[in-house]
Amino acid sequence: MTNRPPVDPASSLVFRTLHNSPDDSLWLVDENISQPLPAALSQIQAITNRFDLYQHMQETGWMCYFSDFDLSHLPQRSLARIVLRIPKEKPLTHYLINQAALLLKDQGELILIGDKSEGIRTYSQRAKERLGGQLSETKMNAGLWFANITCAAQVSTRELDDQRYTQLRELSDKSGFSFFSKPGLYGWQKVDQGSAFLCDELATLLGQPTPLSGRILDLGCGFGYLSLRSASTHAHLTCTDNNAAALRACRVNLDHQGLKGEVIASDAGNSLNGPYDTILCNPPFHTGFATNSDITNRFIAAAARLLTDDGNACFVVNKHIGLEHKAGPHFGKIRLHADNGHFKLIHLRQPRH
Ligand SMILES: C[S@@+](CC[C@H](N)C(=O)[O-])C[C@H]1O[C@@H](n2cnc3c(N)ncnc32)[C@H](O)[C@@H]1O
Repeated sequence: MTNRPPVDPASSLVFRTLHNSPDDSLWLVDENISQPLPAALSQIQAITNRFDLYQHMQETGWMCYFSDFDLSHLPQRSLARIVLRIPKEKPLTHYLINQAALLLKDQGELILIGDKSEGIRTYSQRAKERLGGQLSETKMNAGLWFANITCAAQVSTRELDDQRYTQLRELSDKSGFSFFSKPGLYGWQKVDQGSAFLCDELATLLGQPTPLSGRILDLGCGFGYLSLRSASTHAHLTCTDNNAAALRACRVNLDHQGLKGEVIASDAGNSLNGPYDTILCNPPFHTGFATNSDITNRFIAAAARLLTDDGNACFVVNKHIGLEHKAGPHFGKIRLHADNGHFKLIHLRQPRH
């Protein structure tokens, strides 16, 4: 059974605002929006960094683009309105406000919607300074705010600090492992400790030496950590994720390490055919507002569908997640390989196709 998430008041307000928006409006959609999305509005373009939302919007008739908020195809000073439910991440919010200063017409409007606890009032002030126009704010209910910021003929040249949102940069962890990453990507500045545990244990878990060859799927790849640590240059890798920034970073990381493979956008592997000899996965905790349980189940079902009959799926999860139980209907063999007190490693075999 699917748990329907509660209706998010900020998302409802975004949808009502879109209905009353002029032609030449742009809706920026990130994970901080709840479903169901409204019916398509023909005059409004939408850009999202989430592939599941993109697929859904395409199917329902929206004029929608999927990217890591690359807005370079839009002519400068061409938009009457930009609507944004403020993202959770500060660099992304600052980047999008900076973009609004380039893209809005004289007297165009940036509409920011969000909760006080999310920093909406501070962001509204910063947007006013950047756009150089007027700010009008309305408190809707509880902590929810609606802010309308107009764009002046002359905008400020002082950009908000977006930590160079668009740029990939090389980082390294304390073991010296280096990788390319960027804001906009899950845990972008660090290596996930669960994923590190899986890679440290992978050879023992599988009973075969690493790095691995064969057809490998990195399901929910992020910047590609599991692949970078586990795959040999003889492997054929498929890395997939729902997030556009993750896909960008992963592509660069594979190329940089000389690994062969494809990097594909998908919602929990839904556009892939497989089969794969090995599947590596550290499933997400949530996707936007969807519940933890739904998304974990979808990752397990995808692994079962995409694994060869004699293949191995290797999952790492927080030790409180009952992955073994959830995997029961999908796999004939389920083994807890290790538990380090924070994370556990589960070895899944004999998929029930
Ligand atoms: C816990 S992170 C693991 C990332 C990476 N594999 C690592 O080990 O560092 C989970 C990943 O799943 C991705 N994700 C979330 N929802 C997804 C979905 N519906 N389909 C595909 N990937 C998704 C996130 O973008 C994130 O990169």
